[in-house]
Amino acid sequence: MSDQKVTNIKWHHGKITKAHRIDLMKQKGVTIWLTGLSGSGKSTIAVELEHALVENKHQAYILDGDNIRHGLNKNLGFSPEDRAENIRRIGEVAKLFTDANIITITAFISPYKEDRDNARKLQNEGEFIEIYVKCPLNVCEQRDVKGLYKKARTGEIKEFTGISAPYEEPSNPELTIDTSVMPVEESTRAILKYLEENRYVR
Ligand code: PPS
Repeated sequence: MSDQKVTNIKWHHGKITKAHRIDLMKQKGVTIWLTGLSGSGKSTIAVELEHALVENKHQAYILDGDNIRHGLNKNLGFSPEDRAENIRRIGEVAKLFTDANIITITAFISPYKEDRDNARKLQNEGEFIEIYVKCPLNVCEQRDVKGLYKKARTGEIKEFTGISAPYEEPSNPELTIDTSVMPVEESTRAILKYLEENRYVR
């Protein structure tokens, strides 16, 4: 891949304005960025939230770490550099979905604050909501839904978040959801309430 800067390109605007889309779709596009340890509940919450929104006739779509790593990001591993590139690409994709006025739910560990902040910087003010899906490491490890923590402890998986790679907690997320005490239905309701109160959906 060439790292030469591309020149002679120009942004091409369409005829549809953001206000037009908001009016037609009765919602305001936003990226709901779920971050948290493996097994914290990001994907489960994302699925419930998407379901609740679509049932209410909203346009919502999930971008999920495991899924995106099967396609767009299948050439990336879990080194800090690859995770940064993973989050950079998803940040750009989420920006496009949000521009299309979709309620975009991303479910990535996104362990580095700088990467998450860069994803936020790509978007307009108010179009990025960071949600910390908080769960103590020992609880995630007890759940071990995919058996990955066990493999990480034996060293079969290297650079595993929380065990042999860092997770930097968000310092100022719009919402924090502690899944060790809050059931998934309640977590989903808390996010829906936030979306309603801040007029992303009506
Ligand atoms: S990241 O850190 O944001 O780039 O990771 P993400 O794209 O969300 O992918 C996380 C899922 O990949 C699986 N997996 C690992 N996670 C963390 N560390 C290592 N080394 C690793 N290897 C594989 C795991 O299933 C993660 O999914 P979740 O849903 O978070 O458990």
